[in-house]
Amino acid sequence: MKVLLTGGLGYIGSHTAVELLDDGYEVEIVDNLSNSKEETKGKIEQITGKKVVFYKEDLCNIEKLDEIFKKGKYDAIIHFAGLKAVGESVEQPLRYYETNLLSTINLLKCMRKYDVKKLIFSSSACVYSMDNELPFKETGKLSPLNPYGRTKLFIEEIIKDECFARGDLSAIILRYFNPIGAHKSGLIGEDPNGIPNNLMPYITRVALGKLDHLNIFGHDYHTKDGTCIRDYIHVVDLARGHKLALDKIKDLKGCEVYNLGTGTGYSVLDVVNTFNSICGDKVRYEFAPRREGDSECNYADASKAKNGLNFKTKYSLKDMCESAYNYEKNNTKK
Ligand code: NAD
Ligand code: UD1
Repeated sequence: MKVLLTGGLGYIGSHTAVELLDDGYEVEIVDNLSNSKEETKGKIEQITGKKVVFYKEDLCNIEKLDEIFKKGKYDAIIHFAGLKAVGESVEQPLRYYETNLLSTINLLKCMRKYDVKKLIFSSSACVYSMDNELPFKETGKLSPLNPYGRTKLFIEEIIKDECFARGDLSAIILRYFNPIGAHKSGLIGEDPNGIPNNLMPYITRVALGKLDHLNIFGHDYHTKDGTCIRDYIHVVDLARGHKLALDKIKDLKGCEVYNLGTGTGYSVLDVVNTFNSICGDKVRYEFAPRREGDSECNYADASKAKNGLNFKTKYSLKDMCESAYNYEKNNTKK
C-alpha cells in the first residue's frame, strides 16, 4: 500500500512514517518545511533502513500538488500538514483559515481528480466543548475555543461533505489528545522553534538548562493537586493508531471519528514529578497565574478506538518522559 503523508516531516508525521515503513508500507511525504527540517527525512530512513520519496512543496499550491498526485498513484493519504499554534491563530486568524482550509480543499480536489479513496485526518481534542462531561466522547458537543480549533472543526465538516458527495471516499478523523515523547532512537522528536508553548518541550529545555524554570499555569483548579489534567499519549502509540486506522479504512464506507488518547488524565505536577524522578530533579518550577483559555481537566473516552481500531496504548507516563528527555539530550549534543 502506498501512502502520502502531508506534513510528514513534522512531529507526529515523522513518527507515523517510521511505523508505516517498519510495517512494509511505501511512504511518500510532502511538506513545505514551515515547521520541520529536511534532515528529518534522513533520520526516518536511518531508523527504518528504508527510502522515502520527499517533495518540498506547499499544499496551498494546487499545481504542484497536482504534479505529485499525477506521479503518485496513492492508495491513501494521511493529512498532518497545517499550522497548529493556538496563540498564533488568535493573532493571525486569516493565515490559519487560509492555510489549513485551502490546503485541505486542494488535497480533496486532487484526491477526487486522481481517484484516491482513503483519507485519514489529524484533528484535535480542542474541537470539543469544555462543557462536555468527562471523559470526552466522539459524540460530545463540539465548540472550539480558538481559530486553530475552528479550522479543525471546519475541516472535519468539509471532509464529511466530500465523503457524502463522492460516495466512494472513506475518511477517518482522528482527534488527538496530548501527544508527547519521542522515538526511542532519540533521532526524531518534538523540536519547536523559539520558546515552547506546550508543556513537555518546555520541561525538557528546563532540564537541559536552556530555560531557567517552568511556570505552572494555575495551582487553584479543582483537581487533586490544583493543577490542570490532560490525557498525555506517547507519540509512538499515536503513530501506531494511524497504522490501525489504515487497516480499518480498507473496508470502511463513509466517515468515522475516533479519539486517540489513553483515557487517563495526569496533572501538570504528575508530569513534572515523573520527569524529575528520571532526570534527578533538574526541572525547577514556580506556580504562575492560570493561562487564559485553559480547561481544568480533559481526557478521552478511548473505548471507540479500542473496540473499533483495536487501539491500545503501550507506553506509560514514565516512558513518555524518558523518551522526551533522551531526545532533548541527543538534540543538544550537536
Ligand atoms: P508539526 O508542525 O510538527 O507538523 C506539521 C507539518 O506540516 C510540519 O512539518 C510543517 O512544515 C508542515 N506544513 C504546514 N503547513 C504546510 C503546508 N501548507 N504545506 C505543506 N506542509 C505544511 O505538527 P504536529 O504536532 O506533527 O501535528 C500534526 C497534525 O496534528 C497537525 O495538523 C496538528 O494540528 C494536529 N494535532 C497536533 C497535536 C499536537 O499536540 N502536536 C494535537 C492535536 C492535533
Ligand atoms: C494545547 C492547545 C491545544 C492543542 C495542544 C497541542 C491551548 C489552550 N490548547 O493544549 O489546542 O491541541 O496544545 O498543540 O493552548 N502548562 C504549564 N506551563 C507551560 C506549558 C503548559 O503549566 O509552560 C500546562 C497548561 O496549563 C496545561 C498543560 O500544561 O494545563 C498542557 O499544556 P499544553 O502542552 O500547552 O497543551 P494543552 O493546553 O492541553
